[in-house]
Amino acid sequence: MKKRGEKIAVLTSYDASFTAVLESAGVEVLLVGDSLGMVIQGLESTLPVTVRDMVYHTRVVARAHSMSLLIADMPFMSYDTPARALETGKGLMQAGGAHMVKLEGGAEQTDTVAYLVANGIPVCAHLGLLPQSVYKLGGYKVQGRDADSARKIREDALALERAGASLLVLECVPASLAAEITGALEIPVIGIGAGAGCDGQVLVLYDMLGITPRKMPRFVKNFLAETGSIKAAIAAYVAAVKDGSFPAPEHSY
Ligand code: KIV
Repeated sequence: MKKRGEKIAVLTSYDASFTAVLESAGVEVLLVGDSLGMVIQGLESTLPVTVRDMVYHTRVVARAHSMSLLIADMPFMSYDTPARALETGKGLMQAGGAHMVKLEGGAEQTDTVAYLVANGIPVCAHLGLLPQSVYKLGGYKVQGRDADSARKIREDALALERAGASLLVLECVPASLAAEITGALEIPVIGIGAGAGCDGQVLVLYDMLGITPRKMPRFVKNFLAETGSIKAAIAAYVAAVKDGSFPAPEHSY
């Protein structure tokens, strides 16, 4: 799809019923995100989410899934060594039914990425705002605004691709930086708060339906508000990602 210039529509999913709706609306990639800690479990952050939680939700999503690529997040501290990452990846794929796992972090994760890929586990990397490092970052803030941090994100992206990552999620970075990285990488770059220049977009499902009970960041659009039904909201999101109208400048940094 990247080579054809076709935008990739991604959303998070955590259960079987929504998975069926998402697939019928044309969502191509489903992410069982550890955001489930915040939107399903009512936690303050994603940090307390366990491998067991992730396997459970991945399994129920996999039960309803048919066509889409199914990615599952590796939760906090479940990939702090390559050996532990392999155990976590094995659980998410064998017991959960995931096709790919996602992990957060840059060059420090390249050994882990290479080890997973060598063992047959495809990896989606995640750079920019890293929710599992929220306390290290000092909050949910835009990353890569100054020249040094932008250079680090750019170099990390190239290193992760060289290590064998198949996809990259870029969260909350300036649109110009995301577009530059998207052009420099061969693998698809999926943006969230990263502007329209990425190869695809992802949002947290409950955020784009406007049912998350907290203040929404600038990059979220409530698609339910203008469509009136869940099916129509998801179809509108897919159409807007495909034609490049979402994210608009007001959703970008
Ligand atoms: O956990 C999640 O839902 C994510 C997305 C925000 C990309 O990582």
